Amino acid sequence: MTAKTIVMETDELYQTAAKLFVRIAATSATKRGAFCVALSGGSTPKRLYSLLASQYSGAIPWENTHIFFSDERCVPPEDPESNFGMVRDSLLSRVPIRNENVHRIQGELDPLLGAERYSEVISQLFEHAPGQPPAFDLILLGMGEDGHTASIFPGSPLVHESDRLVAETFVEKLGAYRITLNPSVLTHARNVVFLVTGEEKSEALQLALKGEYDPDRCPTHILRQAEGKVTWLVDPAAASKLFSRSD
Ligand code: 6PG
Repeated sequence: MTAKTIVMETDELYQTAAKLFVRIAATSATKRGAFCVALSGGSTPKRLYSLLASQYSGAIPWENTHIFFSDERCVPPEDPESNFGMVRDSLLSRVPIRNENVHRIQGELDPLLGAERYSEVISQLFEHAPGQPPAFDLILLGMGEDGHTASIFPGSPLVHESDRLVAETFVEKLGAYRITLNPSVLTHARNVVFLVTGEEKSEALQLALKGEYDPDRCPTHILRQAEGKVTWLVDPAAASKLFSRSD
């Protein structure tokens, strides 16, 4: 695994993220005939998706791109909380991608069934060696103020899940169910890109990047076991506690 952290002003950060997305997409489509990417939810990536739908759309091989999701809230796609709904509105509805190339997590189903269905979709679509999890070309991730990523939250048994590719989880602090890719899939991706902005993430980012390995406390530490490239794209506000005077 190679990991790097790039700190840059927010506007430049989203441009860099878009260029990295395009580069990975083009390389994957050329080398393997397809670009399989899992998109993160939340609010941070919206600006990236809007850039991909406008300024960078012409550089993305939509014909050979397959869109997946890192996680989903257990709500219907029309719900304002839906990650799929956010990606549909900011990206998918604005680019020439076929519906059959978009593989959403069915958040409207019973959580266990939704997780099982998504696991089946991934297993059917990915050609992966027996016993090996699928290798996404890119997984986009965010990070919560508590250090969660995808929908793997501090203290969750999913931190140590090693069998299932996808799982449902009840998030106590949210009082809601989520469906998420599990660590084996996250760590098997060729490329992982974290997008983290804002002062409110600075404590968690310091723990994520500088703290002693403790994935139960900080689930982003799971990605310290990543087999591929991990890139952290962060703005100065989020990075404000990274370079303390003692360094
Ligand atoms: C979700 C995401 C989650 C998100 C972080 C950061 O469904 O919300 O998958 O992991 O990336 O909570 O969210 P923000 O970008 O909104 O701060």
